[in-house]
Amino acid sequence: MEKILFVNACVREESRTLRLARHLLSKLDGDVEEVNLAKEKIPVIDSWEVLEIRSSLLKSGETDAPELKWARQFAAADTIVVAAPYWDLAFPAMVKVYMERVTVTGLTFRYSEEGLPVGLCKARRLIYVMTAGGPARLNFGYDYLDALCRGFFGIRETMLFKAENLDIVGNDVEKIMASAFAEIDEAAAKGRF
Ligand SMILES: Cc1cc2nc3c(=O)[nH]c(=O)nc-3n(C[C@H](O)[C@H](O)[C@H](O)COP(=O)(O)O)c2cc1C
Repeated sequence: MEKILFVNACVREESRTLRLARHLLSKLDGDVEEVNLAKEKIPVIDSWEVLEIRSSLLKSGETDAPELKWARQFAAADTIVVAAPYWDLAFPAMVKVYMERVTVTGLTFRYSEEGLPVGLCKARRLIYVMTAGGPARLNFGYDYLDALCRGFFGIRETMLFKAENLDIVGNDVEKIMASAFAEIDEAAAKGRF
């Protein structure tokens, strides 16, 4: 069975991003494990001590420590789905906090002798789902995750599904959402995931 990791950064009860992500997940075949970032409240790495604890766990091979669970889980997934609303041209800060917990040397990537990152993640792809109030021409959230996937984790494919302009007065929100749903259906029908 495929392991699907669902990273949920949606906070609104009526979240449209979550609706889109649930639709995408219904098209994927596998066991879904969810990390709900709003509920998990992952601690920010805000002191050198936190990093020292992490280094000593890695040095002593204690990779089953709770502090490393996000990196372990991320490395082991076959497909990763991230659902994040478009906030301030990127994503909610908790996604950055999560990624700092995931980007762990020896678990999700390692450095080669030349000092270059080599991916250790199993996933074939990461699928990013978002909705935006206006147009999302600058998309620092998706671009950042895409760069990490390719540059660090060894995840070669990233895909983006989005619904934009949802908060523009007069726009037909359900029509825009339906067209985003249809894009997902089309990708599924073409066997892209
Ligand atoms: C804190 C915050 C920041 C936002 N920043 C942007 C932005 O930079 N550009 C934009 O087009 N919409 C922005 N929006 C609007 C959201 O992207 C939009 O309402 C989105 O559909 C929310 O997703 P949700 O329904 O899943 O919560 C922002 C909304 C919030 C609450």
